[in-house]
Amino acid sequence: MALTLMKLFVFSFLVSSTALAVKSELLSSKREKLTRFRVYVQNIFGGSNATDVIIVPPSTTKQSTALFGQLDVIDDAVTIGPNTSSKNVGRVQGLLAFTSQSEIVLSMSMTFAFTEGKYNGSSLTIVGRNVVSMKVRELPIVGGTGLFRLGRGYVHISTYSSNFKTGLFVFVYYFYVYHY
Ligand SMILES: *[C@@H]1O[C@H](CO)[C@@H](O)[C@H](O)[C@H]1NC(C)=O
Ligand SMILES: *[C@@H]1O[C@H](CO)[C@@H](O)[C@H](O)[C@H]1NC(C)=O
Ligand SMILES: *[C@@H]1O[C@H](CO)[C@@H](O)[C@H](O)[C@H]1NC(C)=O
Repeated sequence: MALTLMKLFVFSFLVSSTALAVKSELLSSKREKLTRFRVYVQNIFGGSNATDVIIVPPSTTKQSTALFGQLDVIDDAVTIGPNTSSKNVGRVQGLLAFTSQSEIVLSMSMTFAFTEGKYNGSSLTIVGRNVVSMKVRELPIVGGTGLFRLGRGYVHISTYSSNFKTGLFVFVYYFYVYHY
């Protein structure tokens, strides 16, 4: 019995390591390339169509304009142009944590899930620190799936428009991503 299990284990190990070897051969036969593109993120805060909701309110012991301690979940539309009605190419979903006690700083963890053209079904994940007062914020791209497998790079984020009355904030993201 023990021997059979051992054989099974060795066999499955051999199978999976062969699969790995085939996979790495496939990847090494491809060349890493740089893809650059620009998209807009439509972030709606508040109202019946909110795409950005507070899931943990800011800390009451440290009331400040920095919203220190607040946690938001976002599910924003991604468009090719700045207009909300421009062509939709996906969603960006994730968590925003307000992590500074002195100014608005977002610790972001979010994934762009693309739904158009050749990138349909592929995704890119961004994790990093966003100092909202800066004109251009740079955050790392830490990975991807589909056409963006083994993706790495950075994004430059700027605020395109802010409307505190309607709650619509539009951000422009410039992606610089290496992938296979
Ligand atoms: C929510 O979206 C619907 C459909 O696009 C729109 O008719 C409605 O005016 C929006 N509501 C608000 C509060 O923006
Ligand atoms: C967005 O597009 C709509 C419809 O094409 C247009 O009526 C509106 O003026 C545009 N808004 C802006 C801010 O360009
Ligand atoms: C994207 O892929 C999904 C799942 O394969 C498919 O249902 C959808 O029609 C595709 N969309 C476009 C615009 O190609």
